[in-house]
Amino acid sequence: PALVVDFGAQYAQLIARRVREAGVYSEIVPHTATAEEIAAKNPAALILSGGPSSVYEEGAPRLDPAVLELGVPTLGICYGFQYMAQVLGGEVANTGLREYGATDAHIDAGESTLLSGQPAEQNVWMSHGDQVSRAPEGFEVLATTDATRVAAFANEERRLYGVQWHPEVRHSDHGQEILENFLHKGAGLPADWNSDSVISEQIARIREQVGDARVISALSGGVDSAVSTALVHRAIGDQLTAVFVDHGLLRKGEREQVEKDYVESTGVRLITVDAVDTFLGHLAGVTDPETKRKIIGREFIRAFEQVQRDLVEEAKATGGAPVKFLVQGTLYPDVVESGGGTGTANIKSHHNVGGLPEDLDFELVEPLRALFKDEVRAIGRELGIPEAIVGRQPFPGPGLGIRIIGEVTRERLDILREADAIAREELTAAGLDQTIWQCPVVLLADVHSVGVQGDARTYGHPIVLRPVSSEDAMTADWTRLPYDVLSRISNRITNEVREVNRVVLDVTSKPPATIEWE
Ligand code: XMP
Repeated sequence: PALVVDFGAQYAQLIARRVREAGVYSEIVPHTATAEEIAAKNPAALILSGGPSSVYEEGAPRLDPAVLELGVPTLGICYGFQYMAQVLGGEVANTGLREYGATDAHIDAGESTLLSGQPAEQNVWMSHGDQVSRAPEGFEVLATTDATRVAAFANEERRLYGVQWHPEVRHSDHGQEILENFLHKGAGLPADWNSDSVISEQIARIREQVGDARVISALSGGVDSAVSTALVHRAIGDQLTAVFVDHGLLRKGEREQVEKDYVESTGVRLITVDAVDTFLGHLAGVTDPETKRKIIGREFIRAFEQVQRDLVEEAKATGGAPVKFLVQGTLYPDVVESGGGTGTANIKSHHNVGGLPEDLDFELVEPLRALFKDEVRAIGRELGIPEAIVGRQPFPGPGLGIRIIGEVTRERLDILREADAIAREELTAAGLDQTIWQCPVVLLADVHSVGVQGDARTYGHPIVLRPVSSEDAMTADWTRLPYDVLSRISNRITNEVREVNRVVLDVTSKPPATIEWE
């Protein structure tokens, strides 16, 4: 693989994704990895990421200098570039000249492959206070800016390269080409990593891991569980049983989408557990958000465990193969964020309702562990999963249960389900699904306001629209939806959902507000 050494920037995952877009498989390693540990991974290329520190500061993140002696083609970016300069005998200084954002770079590609074929003047994205003031011996300077004398360098013979700017961000006009030059020309790597190769590799791996044993999988209706389940099914067919728990908090059409469209397109053997009465029974009278989440999570696990036990018993009774494995749709960012890849702060990730008990006597099958979300979607499409599932926006595991502010009842769920379906329909019709990250629709069930409909006074509930734009749900801004779309949604909801007489728009970013209301 190509290894991305993480110096603690938010950029490491982005770099890893861009490398994969260039058709080269990549993984992230922390800067604390030793040269031996890195060599053991057999890297075909190394990319040193940016980072928030100064290389000459005490306590600045260091990388074992022996890494640069491994003979592996290496590209340093920003901090990684400065780190290379320092270790290889150049000079890094704080000149007081800072560059942030769009910057003009003057390119002289010279003999090097790194910037070959690139325009002499280009717009690049900078973010630095220090700079390389002298390139190490044997290195050719390939670019300058008005403030920086050494903005890129290369030692073609040793295949060591560096750039001060961030080629991984889209604001750098030719950034992706630079990464591709490095990977394909500098490191000589072919572009052969794609959905097809991932699928066939994973199928072989799953078969080897599972053997003749039986496997179960929890489908939530979301992208990750849908794709991991389909992939495992492709590998082992009916050794797999998928379980879908209907907790009554689903949106309109979701159960049918899973039971019909998903099953038809994948051939997965599915058991649906109808647990609506149980869930709503336990939620009766509950208004506290955290209590709701706990109840929903607990009941989900109970429902799932019951099916597990039934399947295990069935296998014993019929003398069939034992049920030994459980599929989980863990993605690469989860692996990295839970400490599997970086030295950066641990970021809390949400527990999905699919979050399963810890004391299970099952081994995990996690075929998406190495993948990013967009790659998972590409694989899902390749496997023929309907677009409505593969392209689905995030939806919280506890479902509509945390979008009714107040007690969750059947009647309130019906109201919210209708309003939500209208909003989704109109957003899709307006072609806005790719523009927004998601749009929670929230029922303020304990709030009444006065309205007038057909000459009569009404006393109905407000519905809140919460359209947000985001990259990763950690931060978000409210989406400036076109007024005519908002107007259509508002008209339709108040006309078609009798109990609602007011539609309001949430115009708060995250932070301070979260995306969901509970
Ligand atoms: P917040 O409300 O924390 O939401 O800004 C961030 C993202 O996470 C989703 N979300 C959840 N997803 N289980 C999930 O699987 C949950 O309990 C949960 N709560 C919130 C939310 O929809 C948004 O995308």
